Amino acid sequence: MILIVYAHPHHSRSIAHRALLDAVRDLPDVQVNSLYDRYPDFDIDVEAEQALLAQASLVIWQHPIYWYSPPALLKLWFEVVLMRGWAYGAGGTALQGKGCLWVTSTGSAEDDYRPDAAHGHPFGAFSPPVERTAVLCGMVWQPPLIVHGAHRVDRTALAAQAAHYRTRLEQWNARSHG
Ligand SMILES: Cc1cc2nc3c(=O)[nH]c(=O)nc-3n(C[C@H](O)[C@H](O)[C@H](O)COP(=O)(O)O)c2cc1C
Repeated sequence: MILIVYAHPHHSRSIAHRALLDAVRDLPDVQVNSLYDRYPDFDIDVEAEQALLAQASLVIWQHPIYWYSPPALLKLWFEVVLMRGWAYGAGGTALQGKGCLWVTSTGSAEDDYRPDAAHGHPFGAFSPPVERTAVLCGMVWQPPLIVHGAHRVDRTALAAQAAHYRTRLEQWNARSHG
């Protein structure tokens, strides 16, 4: 099973993530776990989340970038679900060997992520907290899928990225079943 842990505080206003999710949600073996729908009060059911993760071969963390980071509910999810002794540390092997794909979006254009531009660093400088979380838990980090400039992305480019997302999940399924 491919588990999409989806964290968008305003899905009803989303353009980028709506297009990405719509491109993959009908695939066999894909389950979308929308954290802001499920936990509007931020009261995460840790056991239920861990049970979902246990069934997944690929875990996707999908969200817009908010203040250079995942939105607050996904950050809380990392803190409470990825427990020591379960996800990492002594005896913490539940996620070992599972794939981890980061699917995210920025409002700013990729060009704004440069030392001499608005954000002062390449976008890759902001990815280590997410990447290392996956790697510390023994997951196998996949090349991320990033939609830059989501505020002004043209529909054709967005459709191409959505199609690319679908292809990647189809390939994952083919490899898992092959
Ligand atoms: C509170 C807040 C913080 C944000 N912080 C960033 C940021 O640090 N960098 C950035 O490029 N865009 C930032 N954005 C823009 C979002 O990333 C952008 O709206 C989102 O990727 C668009 O995706 P969507 O069409 O699925 O909503 C922020 C937006 C909000 C509301």
